[in-house]
Amino acid sequence: MATANVLSTAPSDDKHIPFIDLQAQRLRLGQRIEDAIARVLDHGRFVAGPEIDELESRLSDWCGAKYSISCASGTTALSLGLSALGAKYRDAIFVPAFTFVSPAEVIARLGCIPVLVDVQPDSFNIDPESLVRGIQMAEEHGLTPRGVIVIDLFGQPADYPALQEIATAHDLWLMADAAQSFGASLQGKKVGTLTKLTATSFFPSKPLGCYGDGGAIFTDSDEIATEVRSRRQHGQGEDRMTHVRIGMNGRLDTVQAAILLEKLAILSDELKARDRIAARYSAGLKDLVRVPPIMPGRTSAWAQYTVRLRQGERDQVREILEKDGIPTAIYYHTALHHHAPYTGYPRAHGGLPVSEKLARTVLSLPMHPYLEPALQDRIIESFRTALIEVRGG
Ligand SMILES: Cc1ncc(COP(=O)(O)O)c(C=O)c1O
Repeated sequence: MATANVLSTAPSDDKHIPFIDLQAQRLRLGQRIEDAIARVLDHGRFVAGPEIDELESRLSDWCGAKYSISCASGTTALSLGLSALGAKYRDAIFVPAFTFVSPAEVIARLGCIPVLVDVQPDSFNIDPESLVRGIQMAEEHGLTPRGVIVIDLFGQPADYPALQEIATAHDLWLMADAAQSFGASLQGKKVGTLTKLTATSFFPSKPLGCYGDGGAIFTDSDEIATEVRSRRQHGQGEDRMTHVRIGMNGRLDTVQAAILLEKLAILSDELKARDRIAARYSAGLKDLVRVPPIMPGRTSAWAQYTVRLRQGERDQVREILEKDGIPTAIYYHTALHHHAPYTGYPRAHGGLPVSEKLARTVLSLPMHPYLEPALQDRIIESFRTALIEVRGG
């Protein structure tokens, strides 16, 4: 089945149901985004303009991190974060196998070794027990375990208390990949403050997205903040012409910061809507499929609403839904170790069976804060009918 562009450019109507409806959000924001962009065009500081500082300060107010440092993308945030944490050539860095490729990519690009770890079937997040088996495997093979990239998949924070215990016992750092979870919380603490360093993405489809590429790093550490700011700007030192470390151009554009400021102002409200929509899906589907549970003490940013089907059902269900005009997506149909560049990297003892099974059985349904109840009921009804037909009943 062809992969649809999941971002809508047209408002939803009876014939066209977007997977993520960015136009509905634009309609809500009205003239504010256009005015914000116009202000940047007027002052002309397209790089490092005043909106960058304002956004960074508002992000910190929002999530509680001492420092918020904007950057060019989520991948840039991960890459700057790894360097700031001191990742070195051949260090073993643990990463879950069921995810988008970006975290493993930045590890490999730095010359470190991604060690692939399995995930939990219900939360989709890294499995602490598999992490322990990964550390054992790495030590047995003479690798140097250094850190873990923890990914909050589909919007729900991972089990940071359990992971931190393991990390402390093995002298590892944790870096959070919150590309999908900015806005969520764990035991009352917001994502951005759950680890020493958090990276997020403002890709348009993320819970907080801009109109292009963007990302940010959150930390309470003065040293990490100094490192990241410097590396984001070509390793700059005290002045613009002094370079004290190897860096990059990792900056966020001012226009994107101006857009994000407007979107951040409605994020809390949008998160509530996402919660409502997720609850409606779960109530309507839980007797037929495994709906995504929210673990105790957590909230989710609901970047995706992802159910688990039985083996062999997915293609047919998707086909029926597509005929009914309902878009679905598969995040992710291939576990990391089955992508050609990652087949040779080490894996935790016990293998990655949960990642492999999820890759065959997950299905994500349309999810965005502007999904109207009537339209959502149509999706639920259509999904139920499709599944019952596929199951022959
Ligand atoms: C879990 C995860 N990490 C990292 C990224 C990379 O973010 P970006 O596309 O902004 O580079 C994404 C983006 O899809 C993601 O989902």
